Amino acid sequence: MIASKDGFYTPEVGRWSETKYDLIFNYTSLFSTGMKKIWERRVYIDLYSGSGKAQIRNTDKVVYTSPLLAIKVNDPFDKYIFCDIDEKNVTSLQERINIEDKKLDCTLISGDCNDRIEEIISKIPQYSKEQKVLSFCFIDPFSLKIKFNTIKKLGEKLIVDFLILLAFGMDGKRNISIYIEENNDRIDNFLGITDWRVRWREAEKNGLNLVKFLADEFTSQMVKIGYLNQANNNFISIKSDEKNLPLYYLAFYSKHARGYDFWNKVKQLSDQPELGL
Ligand SMILES: C[S@@+](CC[C@H](N)C(=O)[O-])C[C@H]1O[C@@H](n2cnc3c(N)ncnc32)[C@H](O)[C@@H]1O
Repeated sequence: MIASKDGFYTPEVGRWSETKYDLIFNYTSLFSTGMKKIWERRVYIDLYSGSGKAQIRNTDKVVYTSPLLAIKVNDPFDKYIFCDIDEKNVTSLQERINIEDKKLDCTLISGDCNDRIEEIISKIPQYSKEQKVLSFCFIDPFSLKIKFNTIKKLGEKLIVDFLILLAFGMDGKRNISIYIEENNDRIDNFLGITDWRVRWREAEKNGLNLVKFLADEFTSQMVKIGYLNQANNNFISIKSDEKNLPLYYLAFYSKHARGYDFWNKVKQLSDQPELGL
């Protein structure tokens, strides 16, 4: 969705990010409207929110990014929680939310979402018989830096569907030789386990590719906390324009088969290939 320049912080992104923005807008539109009459409180959580706008690299084009797209849906969520580690993203996002002037219930948190997760959870309305609360959480890091423990805390305490950007191409493949070292904890934290190295060495010998390996390991961790296994058939790969290489994957996780209805619709609207696992 095209936006105008406004003088607030606007990072540059690659052209392929526009696919991600279309997906997140389509998904949040379907989810927020479809769930409006069924749940008293719909909550949108964006753990790596950014500033709300981005400029497409080597162009003049400015677009809305995940937090503002989620605000611009026809039936806005009842509560929004945004977190970003970079203070200038948070202040720019706050200014842009003010300009939208939609009188929405928004909480902005500046800091590392992994460290601030308890505070984030405390901002989510309590589920009760009278007030059923359904959350959707978008996790959009630059790298595999999200900690599984953060996802686990949310998944165990809330009814929440996740859309997670998995930087297997951008980060995993490029850096596996570093991450496999015993003293490097990037993948340990990402998967929430340390015994993956043994399985990876075996898998590599058997010719399994790293993307398939990490996707299986991550999904099996999600299954342990109650999410459905069908996520692996539902990854969407986003490729770079220049080299047509997969940069990252968008993975959707729900504990209920019905949760996949909206994601399947969004996938049909997208011309991006699924991950051939
Ligand atoms: C890929 S950008 C995503 C921005 C936004 N979701 C979008 O649609 O463009 C990642 C964002 O995460 C922020 N970030 C990086 N590490 C973080 C962390 N540990 N906790 C919260 N935000 C973080 C960065 O400042 C950056 O704005």
